[in-house]
Amino acid sequence: METLDAIRARRNVRDYTADPVSDEDLSRIAEAGWRAPSASNRQHWDFVVVTDRGQLAELATVWQSASHIARAAAAIALVVPRPADDRQAALDQYDLGQATYAMMLAATDLGIGTGHSSVGDHDKARALLGVPATHDVAYLLGVGYPADRPLRPVARPNRRPFDEVVHRGRW
Ligand SMILES: Cc1cc2nc3c(=O)[nH]c(=O)nc-3n(C[C@H](O)[C@H](O)[C@H](O)COP(=O)(O)O)c2cc1C
Repeated sequence: METLDAIRARRNVRDYTADPVSDEDLSRIAEAGWRAPSASNRQHWDFVVVTDRGQLAELATVWQSASHIARAAAAIALVVPRPADDRQAALDQYDLGQATYAMMLAATDLGIGTGHSSVGDHDKARALLGVPATHDVAYLLGVGYPADRPLRPVARPNRRPFDEVVHRGRW
């Protein structure tokens, strides 16, 4: 898929077929996160790739809008060290967003759907994944083949009007 087509086709996929995602494709998706830019190249992230059905079912309970994780073929947990201060926390969140989006686009390119989930119960998420107390599970990304429709460029995305958002030269 062309990069721009992948950007246009990506959407949150929350219903997945029962087909597994190969280890090779999961590694390609994780590679995209690994290659993502970060402030000062600090790479304040670790990724935990989960395919065990029991773990996925439990992860689906760590947030009120995480239920799609139980239906996913896999999940990628984005883990971040506890930040030292507000500045570090803001940089971490920016960096995690870039890594997340890189993984989502790589998955789209492979015809694989992804769906974000926040994390509410951090203690449970940490325990499920064996993450040390020095770190938090910041986000989960459900991964699987879309059960609703294939990933094709979305003609009219649910977004604010382009000309309202994009300013040229001045606000
Ligand atoms: C920081 C962040 C947290 C999100 N958390 C959740 C979540 O917990 N559960 C969920 O189903 N979707 C979650 N989403 C997905 C957004 O709702 C979704 O990206 C947005 O509605 C736009 O839809 P699209 O991704 O299909 O274009 C999250 C997205 C972001 C960027």
